[in-house]
Amino acid sequence: MEEKVIEEGRQGEALELINASKSGRKMYIESYGCQMNFSDSEIVASILTDEGFSTTPNIEEADVVFVNTCSIREKAEQTVRNRLKVYNAIKKKQNPRMVVGVLGCMAERLKEKFLEEEKLVDIVVGPDAYRDLPNLIGDVDIGRKAVNVILSKEETYAEISPVRLGGNGITAFVSIMRGCDNMCSFCVVPFTRGRERSRDPESIVKECQQLVADGYKEVTLLGQNVDSYLWSGGGLKKDFKKLSPEEQAKSVNFAQLLDVVAQVSPELRIRFSTSHPKDMTDDVLHIMAKHENICNYIHLPVQSGNSRILELMNRGYTREWYIDRVDAIKRIIPDCGISMDIISGFCTETEKEHQDTLSLMEYVKYDFGFMFNYSERPNTQAQRKLNDDIPDIVKKRRLKEIIDLQMQHSHFRNQEHVGKVHKILVEGVSKKSDQELFGRNTQNTVVVFPREKFEAGQYINVEVYECTSATLKGKAIGLA
Ligand code: 5AD
Ligand code: SF4
Repeated sequence: MEEKVIEEGRQGEALELINASKSGRKMYIESYGCQMNFSDSEIVASILTDEGFSTTPNIEEADVVFVNTCSIREKAEQTVRNRLKVYNAIKKKQNPRMVVGVLGCMAERLKEKFLEEEKLVDIVVGPDAYRDLPNLIGDVDIGRKAVNVILSKEETYAEISPVRLGGNGITAFVSIMRGCDNMCSFCVVPFTRGRERSRDPESIVKECQQLVADGYKEVTLLGQNVDSYLWSGGGLKKDFKKLSPEEQAKSVNFAQLLDVVAQVSPELRIRFSTSHPKDMTDDVLHIMAKHENICNYIHLPVQSGNSRILELMNRGYTREWYIDRVDAIKRIIPDCGISMDIISGFCTETEKEHQDTLSLMEYVKYDFGFMFNYSERPNTQAQRKLNDDIPDIVKKRRLKEIIDLQMQHSHFRNQEHVGKVHKILVEGVSKKSDQELFGRNTQNTVVVFPREKFEAGQYINVEVYECTSATLKGKAIGLA
């Protein structure tokens, strides 16, 4: 993605085609939703590459077509259903032998029901069962439909080297944990991705070292809740306080992990996503401040600026706690970029409570954000216990107010960058002109500048002279 976007819809609406071919067979994967899904597709590609598959960008010639799905909002599921209709048409007209596999959150949520609802689908695989894919494809080969939606207490795919798909060879995702124990009342993820497990830090460091050896310059450490990362020898995440003194001494938390990953190479920039406000410690912030190569940017979803709504959402913090964390960020890392997720029109939200969200936004003045209408999800606490009582039209109006305000704030933050020199990692050629390059500054803001003699993968100092609410424009003044 070239430009930073302010949009309604981060998970579930973004589409990227990625290509991945059992002994001479070809596979094609499409991924929807969060970065974890894109990262998981790279693990799927790795598992099947080891079985002799190769990749194809061309769905018409694929033996197996996978769609890695998102359930976060109803709209995300609808997008996948629409894609399945397109696959059906392609199967009928162009590729009758095509096998269709549904991966990820929708597979986990719907399980066998998927096979009844969508006759086209042959394989249904949940996020913890990708190692079983070769067997499942074998089942389909002998004329059976295949389902594995078992969630695991251990699986982190720790030692699997992802096949980097559709990437730029410069930035990569590294998964550090799986699952989520938070049970936010609106969220389907704890049901579709299971309980929290942290990945062995040694395997994380090895993967980062390999990426450096392969020429990569930036990693994003990924997890549903990265700042609750705690390695204590594997298995489900344990409470630090319940560990023995010896186990505590050997354990690795997120701040400690960041500290080690930052030392892999000074040339490797580190980002991470997503953080939960209740787990964002000063220790993490101090480690960020200590290492120049850890980017000064935190995605800190707030969801609402009102403490009663936050309680109903089961977020585990109040407005005041959140503000205290933002103050700590600005105190410890003064130039830190902050972004958010906000949900508009959650159950019983009053006009005054919506105003609290707007006033919190005024306080923080986020660099950018991802903003959504509340979408009721089956079997979540909110669906079982609360009333989705805010009319659509009101949700939409409130969302518009939130988006409009965010546009102003993004512009305000970008203005602050004008007239300054920014260290940019060049990611590639701008979509708008092949005479321009684009990259990001430490705060994750996209910067576009004339290409001159520079190229992707270099760190460049760029003087910024102008901005929109989405992009900074500048001129390179030399290698950084
Ligand atoms: N409705 C709307 N938005 C949701 N999100 C998660 N569940 C829902 C839902 N049921 C949003 C939250 C979360 C982001 C990934 O998606 O803002 O942070
Ligand atoms: Fe969902 Fe909350 Fe977990 Fe995020 S922290 S994945 S919103 S349950």
